Amino acid sequence: MKFFVDTADVEVIRDLADTGLLDGVTINPSLVMKTGRPFLDAVAEICELVDGPVSAEVAATDYPTMIKEARRLASIADNVAVKVPLTRDGLRTCREMSEVGTMVNVTLCFSAAQAILAAKAGAAFVSPFVGRLDDVATDGMDLIESVVDIYDNYPGWSTEVLVASVRHPLHVVAAASLGAHVVTVPPKVIEQLFAHPLTDKGLAAFVADWERTGQSIL
Ligand code: G3P
Repeated sequence: MKFFVDTADVEVIRDLADTGLLDGVTINPSLVMKTGRPFLDAVAEICELVDGPVSAEVAATDYPTMIKEARRLASIADNVAVKVPLTRDGLRTCREMSEVGTMVNVTLCFSAAQAILAAKAGAAFVSPFVGRLDDVATDGMDLIESVVDIYDNYPGWSTEVLVASVRHPLHVVAAASLGAHVVTVPPKVIEQLFAHPLTDKGLAAFVADWERTGQSIL
């Protein structure tokens, strides 16, 4: 399963890229607003930091403007994945951009029916939002299971399931258990994935016992 980080914070991305665990980045208008930075500058800088796909979302909702924005975003770097909403105009833009070889991430997916259309439109990724479904008492991981099962019926489809709106480590574990291709994780949740109190306790004991040996490796 590929790991993307869900942030527009360049310093956080730089730090995570150094771990070697980062396969890509997803950003959206809300995340860009949080940084207060010029969007196009941030996208260009992030594309330099990571080799993998960097999802950069269009702002328009109408096809004529979306397609222009999509072409502008795609021109920034080869690893830009243009992000479009799962709407009729978004899927039309997806079809046109994917046909010329641009990666497209179709976002704001909340049903299996929508995910089928995203695959039909040639999306590189479809982003079902599990956390927002959980927020309305609908199990977001049930959608992931449905979409993965449906996509498995059509090996000719190239769309990858990119689990988004992740809120805690168990979303990541469930995504992997269900065979999702990608998970995009907020920085806070990535830190939670690393952390376990028994690891901390065990490491402290190892360090203390090693110091008592009086030895050194170097
Ligand atoms: O990638 C989509 C993600 O940023 C949305 O997350 O927590 O706002 O539902 P959230």
